Amino acid sequence: MNRARHIAIIMDGNGRWAVQRGMQRIRGHERGAEVVREITTYCAQHPEVEVLTLYAFSTENWKRPKVEVDFLMRLLDRWLAQELPTYQREGVRFEVIGDLSKFSPQLQERIAMTREKTQHNDRLTQVLALNYGGRDEIVRACRKACQAGVELDETNFEAFLDANLGDVDMLIRTGGEQRISNFLLWRAAYAELFFTKTLWPDFTPEELAQMIAAFKGRERRFGAI
Ligand code: IPE
Ligand code: IPE
Ligand code: MG
Repeated sequence: MNRARHIAIIMDGNGRWAVQRGMQRIRGHERGAEVVREITTYCAQHPEVEVLTLYAFSTENWKRPKVEVDFLMRLLDRWLAQELPTYQREGVRFEVIGDLSKFSPQLQERIAMTREKTQHNDRLTQVLALNYGGRDEIVRACRKACQAGVELDETNFEAFLDANLGDVDMLIRTGGEQRISNFLLWRAAYAELFFTKTLWPDFTPEELAQMIAAFKGRERRFGAI
């Protein structure tokens, strides 16, 4: 039976959710942050899920208006400060992937502190993809391997990626679009894909549970017959 060890989610649709309600886009991001807590708690309590990787900010999202980018940076800082008790209570280890060098020193410090304080939690690893691009991660990994004089192959490559998370089992995208948007290009090679029209602020643990149930019934062949 398929095991949903690593679930990755493209959390899309925050802006549309807010606009549909006559609110500013940033209100959708605020509500979306609460959904992150609900889904993380569900996964921490799920016996199978070990890694939950969430796409929070892509290398392309800097193209958005400065006010929205600035709001997202502040929201992230505030959110990490406020979520620490949830991480500790639910046994969640916090991890990040992406190029953090573009973030403010304060935010980098907050991220480092949250990682350090949660490093021994072992029920779930929650990974936030921040200033993350699949291509960027692969190029940086190749550079690191070159600098170390290592000859890359498919087995040793993961060690040069931003974190050792293993292959993605389920890749979910909310918000109705059916594309990858530069997420986890290496690790999603054989992921089962799930697309839902539900906007991220409306996504629930119940819908995730239905997807996991559907995943159980899929035949994963990995190229074999
Ligand atoms: C996803 O929601 C969150 C981020 C990219 C930060 P969007 O902000 O892309 O919402 P839509 O797709 O415009 O509705
Ligand atoms: C993908 O959503 C990135 C995140 C969810 C962080 P986008 O809204 O940025 O993706 P596109 O532009 O629709 O492909
Ligand atoms: Mg979007």
